Amino acid sequence: MTRDNKRKDAAAVTSTGTGAAGDIDVVDKDVVAGGAADKDAAGAEGGTTPPIIEMRGLEKAYGERLVLKGIDMEIRPGTVTCVLGDNGAGKSTLIKALSGLHQPTGGEMLIDGEPARLRNPKDALDRGIAAVYQDLAVVGQMSVWRNFFLGQELTGALGRLKADEMREITAEQLEKMGVNLPDVEVPISTLSGGQRQVVAIARAIYFGARVLILDEPTAALGVKQSGMVLRFVKKARESGVAVIFITHNPHHAYLVGDRFMMLNMGEQVMNADLADVTLEELTVEMSGGGELDALSHELRS
Ligand SMILES: Nc1ncnc2c1ncn2[C@@H]1O[C@H](COP(=O)(O)OP(=O)(O)O)[C@@H](O)[C@H]1O
Ligand SMILES: [Mg+2]
Repeated sequence: MTRDNKRKDAAAVTSTGTGAAGDIDVVDKDVVAGGAADKDAAGAEGGTTPPIIEMRGLEKAYGERLVLKGIDMEIRPGTVTCVLGDNGAGKSTLIKALSGLHQPTGGEMLIDGEPARLRNPKDALDRGIAAVYQDLAVVGQMSVWRNFFLGQELTGALGRLKADEMREITAEQLEKMGVNLPDVEVPISTLSGGQRQVVAIARAIYFGARVLILDEPTAALGVKQSGMVLRFVKKARESGVAVIFITHNPHHAYLVGDRFMMLNMGEQVMNADLADVTLEELTVEMSGGGELDALSHELRS
């Protein structure tokens, strides 16, 4: 319900042409309270920054087949949670459950401390949970600003599009996030893959996401563009957003993550804080961990 209010506020601010700076300031407070508080709050009832989402023993079965076997997660404002795992590990299934596309078949999900059921993606959006998928839902030949406001256009009397205002806000929001585009009028298809990801992230944040799920945002990108997206992930965290970053690149994860969750065939094999895990451990675990040790032992003997 607070989400709805916040959105209306954001809309109200933008329609007076003063920009939506307030939208992000609201969550800023959480970041300041976050960070340090998180460490003190270990074991306590969530401390001063209670998790937005909490999963307890979450399960998902497709027919007879259990593909998520008891996931425990706490998603707090102003943090980046990395979800790692090989193909088929269950990463996409997990985000589908989080974004309301699929319903879990067991365990519990709490949002803002209360048991929640997300029946569809709109339910999730209403609670401030937004997902940016790898195959971005953009309309290539439409301008950057049209895509930014796609489905949430600002309209005036008789449904007339407030084009100037939308252009202005898009440019403003992108600039605020450090994206330099010469012109928001260009078709979005002329942007690089990294830039498109970034526009999608800026858009989700502008429209009030407090949990931002990114499904392999760097998978198809080169080094430079991956860097741009990762920088943006950090920016989102700094503004108080809880980012869930799905990747199978431990290096990318380690550059931005506060918490690391690893899935292996639906089993949660790691759930660790940055302080308790090294890049090497992440890399070894990702490449099959114990299995590799056993293999090299075999080769030596
Ligand atoms: N709709 C579905 N019906 C049946 N099985 C599915 C479905 N979606 C995914 N799976 C199975 O669930 C497992 C996890 O898949 P997925 O979540 O896509 O893994 P990841 O994203 O980590 O690659 C895989 O074995 C996959 O074949
Ligand atoms: Mg997947």
